[in-house]
Amino acid sequence: MQIIAVINQKGGVGKTTSALNLAHALALSKYKVTLIDLDPQGHLSACLGVHDPKIKGIDTALLDQQSLQENILSIRNNLQLVTAGPHLGEVEHAANDIPRDRLHKVLTGQFQDQTCIIIDCPPSSGVLVVNALVAAQTALIPVASDYLALHGLSYLIGTFKNFESSLHKKIPYWIVVTRYQNRRKLSQDVQSKLKQYFPGRILATPIRESVALAESPSFGKTIFEYKPSSVGARDYRSLAKDLLNRRTL
Ligand SMILES: Nc1ncnc2c1ncn2[C@@H]1O[C@H](COP(=O)(O)OP(=O)(O)OP(=O)(O)O)[C@@H](O)[C@H]1O
Ligand SMILES: [Mg+2]
Repeated sequence: MQIIAVINQKGGVGKTTSALNLAHALALSKYKVTLIDLDPQGHLSACLGVHDPKIKGIDTALLDQQSLQENILSIRNNLQLVTAGPHLGEVEHAANDIPRDRLHKVLTGQFQDQTCIIIDCPPSSGVLVVNALVAAQTALIPVASDYLALHGLSYLIGTFKNFESSLHKKIPYWIVVTRYQNRRKLSQDVQSKLKQYFPGRILATPIRESVALAESPSFGKTIFEYKPSSVGARDYRSLAKDLLNRRTL
């Protein structure tokens, strides 16, 4: 079982969109996948049409070390979800009381039948993200195709490296280019800069900017349910294969 943390401290780069649609692409290919919504904003759960604020999620497991078993929702074939829960925001405030291996301990021994767990992280580098990185074997870093995203990435890789050395743990990472626009020179420039700085780390399929990807969350649907023949569905299907076969640029 692989645990993948979807991280980037920059907001709006496509973390949640990628976690959601990658997970569903894998589930549709018969892999067993669990999504964990580790963002107190609860966007991932909302994208799947789960809005009930009373549903317990990863919050109680992190704060009170309660068992996760009853908080695992079966939401689609082969796809499970653990919501953020209403109290996840309190974890950031209780940072001193939450050790960085709390999530790792919560997940250990729980998901033996799953192929992978995908953790959607908040746009920060606080205790939640640190917990995600301690638990994960791999990080997936979505990078939007604009200049500031590239700028933020060097900062992110810096904190990532510091983190690796303080934990004495190597975390292999993949970068996924999101919000790509074929006809925009800036998109092409960002992609070639990334290729230059992170050779062998950029997954082969850029996720194109598409209206259907922006619309699908408001219907509580993944792109495969909302518009299965759209470019967004094609891109995420292809990205899932990139991840499975380690296809890079
Ligand atoms: N390829 C795309 N084409 C069009 N819209 C997109 C695409 N990817 C993401 N979006 C939209 O951009 C917005 C931000 O995406 P998303 O929520 O996935 O980013 P995020 O990194 O998870 O943000 P946050 O840091 O706030 O959690 C959303 O409204 C989403 O629907
Ligand atoms: Mg998000």
